[in-house]
Amino acid sequence: MTKACIVADLSFEIGEIDRRLFGSFVEHIGRCVYGGIFEPGHPDADSQGFRRDVLALTRELGVTLVRYPGGNFLSGYNWEDGVGPVAERPKRLELAWFATEPNSFGTNEFIDWCRAAEIEPLFCVNLGTRGPDDARRLVEYCNHQGGTALSELRKSHGYDAPHGIKLWGLGNEQDGPWQIGEKTATEYGRIAKETAKLMRWVDPEVELSACGSSGREMKTFGAWEYEVLDQCYEQVDYLSLHQYFTNYDGDTAEFLGAADLMDRFIGEVVAICDAVGAKHRSPKRIMLSFDEYNVWWKARPGGKLKKLSGWPEAPAFNEEIYTFEDALVLGGALLALLNNADRVKIACLAQLVNVIAPIMTEPGGRAWRQPIFFPFADVAHLARGAALQQAIESETFASKTLGELPYLFASTTHDAASRRIVVFALNRHLGEGMDLRVELRGVPGRLALEDSRDLAGFDLAATNSAGAETVRPATHDGAMIDGTTITARLAPASWNVFVLSYS
Ligand code: AHR
Repeated sequence: MTKACIVADLSFEIGEIDRRLFGSFVEHIGRCVYGGIFEPGHPDADSQGFRRDVLALTRELGVTLVRYPGGNFLSGYNWEDGVGPVAERPKRLELAWFATEPNSFGTNEFIDWCRAAEIEPLFCVNLGTRGPDDARRLVEYCNHQGGTALSELRKSHGYDAPHGIKLWGLGNEQDGPWQIGEKTATEYGRIAKETAKLMRWVDPEVELSACGSSGREMKTFGAWEYEVLDQCYEQVDYLSLHQYFTNYDGDTAEFLGAADLMDRFIGEVVAICDAVGAKHRSPKRIMLSFDEYNVWWKARPGGKLKKLSGWPEAPAFNEEIYTFEDALVLGGALLALLNNADRVKIACLAQLVNVIAPIMTEPGGRAWRQPIFFPFADVAHLARGAALQQAIESETFASKTLGELPYLFASTTHDAASRRIVVFALNRHLGEGMDLRVELRGVPGRLALEDSRDLAGFDLAATNSAGAETVRPATHDGAMIDGTTITARLAPASWNVFVLSYS
């Protein structure tokens, strides 16, 4: 049995947890849109073709925001193809994934879907094949009240009131050679600046995010962030981060280091943002939008992005089947986001349905939860208020790439409004349980345990399917409270949640 301790004081906060931290991502790729959120003719589809079973699971997952329409797809997308009468919309060759795009789902359908799901949209503008002019036209179409050609065009499409889209992403992964319209940092920084300027002139309420690197492993990581922000620091509000976690070597301990990797990556990007701010003598601070993260490797052999052949329409593609091990890794990544709540304000789990996703569907049939669904739902529903600073004591293990790491990776949150404290704890010891002690200080009342649950005891390779959701959380027995100290025994390789309240 290994031992670990968390000490946290309610008055020592990292920062407020932005509700937009619990976002996801819907791209026109594979069966994410077509056959995922949208399947006219499905027995459970509503009058617009939205699958009600998927809407219900999206709500259960606790998603607060969804990024759309890509991803790599974005960089060749003409938004005009996806608005107006569906029968008149063109089919196009789609060069990000080599598919055929029917365009029967577009901007307005996505807004309707967001309303049905009670989710905020994060729209992205194409800076691959297009630029500032297209972006300002899209903002005018979506957000301008009326009386101009584009706002009247929206009205003629049946949307009298403006969509009021507040959050916008400026392009996608423009540093990647796989991107339609790859750019150097200087080229991208310039176009991001000009695009941001025009979008704000059309609608001063918009919040804008510039592209950071496609991943920490990119050779240009660091230099890219610096140069991009040097160009557009005063014009943007957020810088994006993307990271996918892999386990090609089958090394679980190393894989569980993903939480620390994410934490360090965030710290590095914050440092670069602030270095540019210092250079510009700017009082402004750039916040982070971690708008793509997940485990993604089994559906991507050798780390290569697959391209389709034969121009299929909505094929099954990049449908990663997640394991219990992946759920532990994703749990750690979510805690790294919480522990950086002062700077990370937006995050999107990539993606929502079928393609590297927590929700899976059968064409015409059932929908189900993958193992990664559960840690996301726990954090999205329970992490409210502020993330607390923690002093953690834990034995360590050696990571090949990250050095000594604690077996315990944890996050503690406090919501004064509901008088709730939640402790999320990941035991990364694969062979031993953990005796955990949590000492809470500054609790203004008597502490009670409302709920405790874990995801534990499964084979690391266990998966779920339409017929069997084997990997599911269970009630965690045996947590004890003595004053403001909680003790609990965590299973080896386990995700644990303790919900406490005080009165
Ligand atoms: O989420 C899948 C793809 O991963 C996205 O289209 C792209 O942005 C990233 O490379």
